[in-house]
Amino acid sequence: NYPVRILSGIQPTGTIHLGNYLGAVKEWIRYQDLHEDVLWSIVDMHAITAPQDPRELRDSVIKITATLLACGIDPSRSILFQQSTVPMHAELAWVLGCMTTMSRLAQQPQFKEKSEKLKDIPLGLFTYPVLQAADILLYKATHVPVGEDQIQHLQLAQHTAQFFNVKYGNTFPMPEPLINQSSGRIKSLREPTKKMSKSSEYKRSRINLVDPPEIILEYLKKSVTDFTSEVTYDPEVRPGVSNLVTIHSILTDRTPQEICNEARGLNTGQYKLQLAEVVIEKLRPIRERYQELLNDPGHLQEVLRSGTERAAEKAMSTWCEVRKKIGF
Ligand code: ADP
Ligand code: NA
Repeated sequence: NYPVRILSGIQPTGTIHLGNYLGAVKEWIRYQDLHEDVLWSIVDMHAITAPQDPRELRDSVIKITATLLACGIDPSRSILFQQSTVPMHAELAWVLGCMTTMSRLAQQPQFKEKSEKLKDIPLGLFTYPVLQAADILLYKATHVPVGEDQIQHLQLAQHTAQFFNVKYGNTFPMPEPLINQSSGRIKSLREPTKKMSKSSEYKRSRINLVDPPEIILEYLKKSVTDFTSEVTYDPEVRPGVSNLVTIHSILTDRTPQEICNEARGLNTGQYKLQLAEVVIEKLRPIRERYQELLNDPGHLQEVLRSGTERAAEKAMSTWCEVRKKIGF
């Protein structure tokens, strides 16, 4: 009985890479075309759970905005906004933080993984999923496109919504995950058992959407494969070449098997050159549009300003309801 409302987010840490695009942004464009009410958040408050240089953070928000627009996010059909410009995310996170427990948060696998390597663990890293729950519930989002690694966080949001509804009366819809099955995870070009990530320090591990053709060609040519020369799809046994096939298949909307059939007779070296051509051509219009957009910072600022305004209006209505219910 709640209207469909879709929300997802991306961290402004660096630029958008092929993994973000194929695993998330390409789907966002589809949802924008299918649904009336969609919100995309540039989650800078999540980004600072790891140390950030202020100039780079600010720069990254602008670049990610430009990249999302270049990919086809359309501000007349989507609300695109910067999380920290709507202070009610932090306010609701506080309220929800009072309704979850330390032990529940300590069980989150992402927290365990990320905090393992740290000597001092920021409190924000621990409470990250509470902020994420607030991001979702503040808009009464019904559907949340997420990667598989985010499922536990979404379950925490569901649990918190449930807790609030029972205690204060029906307020939040149960947010459902939208998991992109076909895309899976795009892997690092250097270590194909790990995901392609903005934060990998490995050079040539990822292709950014706005990389120039010569970089795309070089990185794909040097991507790690194995000593078998044919092109086959078997992510367990041959993660390197399978990752290339996955990239190819999602970019061209075909199945991995179709890609392999077409590549019959090519060795992996020849196949990499062919794939590079496809990636370069698919990304060319995005890169060109991105350059144009960066030349007009006033327009980007205006897109974000209007996104804030429209997001805040929706957020305000939930926040007023929450305040009343809890006795503020
Ligand atoms: P990153 O891990 O690169 O910092 P974010 O955490 O900002 O990316 O995630 C933004 C979106 O991109 C999320 O929906 C996430 O699931 C998706 N995503 C990130 N990396 C990959 C990948 N390697 N393959 C597929 N999807 C990915
Ligand atoms: Na729409």
